[in-house]
Amino acid sequence: MQEFELIAKTFQGLEEVLAQELTELGANNVQIGHRMVSFSGDKAMMYRANFCLRTAVRILKPIKHFQAQDADAVYQAVRSVDWNQYLDVTNTFAVDSVIFSSEFRHSKFVAYKVKDAIVDYFRDQTGERPNIRITNPDVKLNIHIADEDCTLSLDSSGESLHLRGYRVATVEAPINEVLAAGLIKLTGWKADCDFIDPFCGSGTFLVEAALMARNIYPGVFRKEFGFERWKDFDAELLQQIYDDDSQEREFSHRIYGYDLNYHAVEAAMKNVRSAGVDSIVQVQQQDFRKFTRPEQPAILVTNPPYGERLTPPDLISLYQTIGKSLKHEFSGGEAWIISSKEELFENIGLRASLKVQIFNGKIDCDFRKYQLFEGKLGQYRAEGGEVKTDEERRLMSDRTRFRARRDEFKQRITNEEEPRMPYETDDDLDPEYLLLRRKHREFQDSRFAPRTPRPAGKRSEGRPGGAPRKGGPRRDGDDRRGGSRGGMKKEGYKRDGFRKGGPRRPRRDSE
Ligand SMILES: C[S@@+](CC[C@H](N)C(=O)[O-])C[C@H]1O[C@@H](n2cnc3c(N)ncnc32)[C@H](O)[C@@H]1O
Repeated sequence: MQEFELIAKTFQGLEEVLAQELTELGANNVQIGHRMVSFSGDKAMMYRANFCLRTAVRILKPIKHFQAQDADAVYQAVRSVDWNQYLDVTNTFAVDSVIFSSEFRHSKFVAYKVKDAIVDYFRDQTGERPNIRITNPDVKLNIHIADEDCTLSLDSSGESLHLRGYRVATVEAPINEVLAAGLIKLTGWKADCDFIDPFCGSGTFLVEAALMARNIYPGVFRKEFGFERWKDFDAELLQQIYDDDSQEREFSHRIYGYDLNYHAVEAAMKNVRSAGVDSIVQVQQQDFRKFTRPEQPAILVTNPPYGERLTPPDLISLYQTIGKSLKHEFSGGEAWIISSKEELFENIGLRASLKVQIFNGKIDCDFRKYQLFEGKLGQYRAEGGEVKTDEERRLMSDRTRFRARRDEFKQRITNEEEPRMPYETDDDLDPEYLLLRRKHREFQDSRFAPRTPRPAGKRSEGRPGGAPRKGGPRRDGDDRRGGSRGGMKKEGYKRDGFRKGGPRRPRRDSE
């Protein structure tokens, strides 16, 4: 099959782990950029990138590179594309724009120009025009402008890839699924010990860790990718990728999640069950203040409240407790914490062996590693203990690692659909998320909260990724693209209308 250029977009700070994933997937010409990794591959690689990558937000397929000094030049260049290859008048389309240029101050204006050019192209040829549709268009386009360099791409993912399809419940501030997967990858965890998230919220780290541990690709839960509505869509090729679970494996350790809030525990359990990983993940209601030494060796990865939206009155004392508990109940272990405020990290009172700067949406965060040991540092070192590896020492001494990119990040002008972030204003949030959040709040307000965890459902029995999930319509507010087929590969797609030339599956807004 013919190879072409592709771009995987990600969070700032996750470029290297994404490049690693791409290399493992067999992509060619893998090159790290800013919040993206470019690579080349054929159609199968493009499908697999969407299906398999855990740390990509979307996969773009550039169709034209050009230079433009103003919006009219953009219009002319876009109009010169042979749009019949990609669209026809019965299709709907939408345009995202990402602009780093003082010449093009209004990204929305650029997006309008691109839309005009496409509409005029068809109107001139046929007298008719394709319609614009912001939500769930047939074809999504992306225009990226850096100074005068413009790249026009097809968005092969459609909706952001963080919408895996397993999330059926949420909490106030869930971490983005792509970010959670990327942070776990940054820890270097090889699924060779237990995994603990003591502030698990809706269980995002737990599910992402479980999928990684079992090497289940996130695409199995997804209902649809953008490329499925393209003219050259190869349903058999996607079916082959979907059916191949040869990489999946058993996991002999356990994943534990705890949260103080009963509703979060409920949400996490639902998500864990929905992903079919409840046989290896255990969730319990527990205050971190009661954290005790785990029975087995474990890594701890967590996202405690930052005090942005979640403001427990005793946040400072909570962080002090984190430090004390890690020191006394987790010596010999490795803990990774993402948080946003230096003051909070200071209250942990432990020295981090590695700090990685990460942007959680618009929030400038650090992901810090703590290597725990008993007693005093001097004594530990004297006995041959190592707090930092040579690589960590090298990285920590390079203090400019991320600084240069900060300003660039802040200058970005965009109307691009960002991955759903916990701390954006409501106007920015995904309507599905808002619906889930509203339901969650209504439920929270309804006083009644049973305490006994429900027994695990039948879904968890069977194959490593959970048992076949049969039939049934997608639930309201559910981000499951796969609807009935998440965690199950053999039945869903074909039965669900995944057939060449067959009827389309229902679109989101008609569900
Ligand atoms: C930022 S959220 C974690 C979000 C989670 N990563 C997710 O994806 O949904 C922090 C969580 O810490 C929980 N929490 C706050 N104080 C706690 C405590 N003392 N012990 C355990 N959990 C606590 C909150 O209920 C909340 O769910």
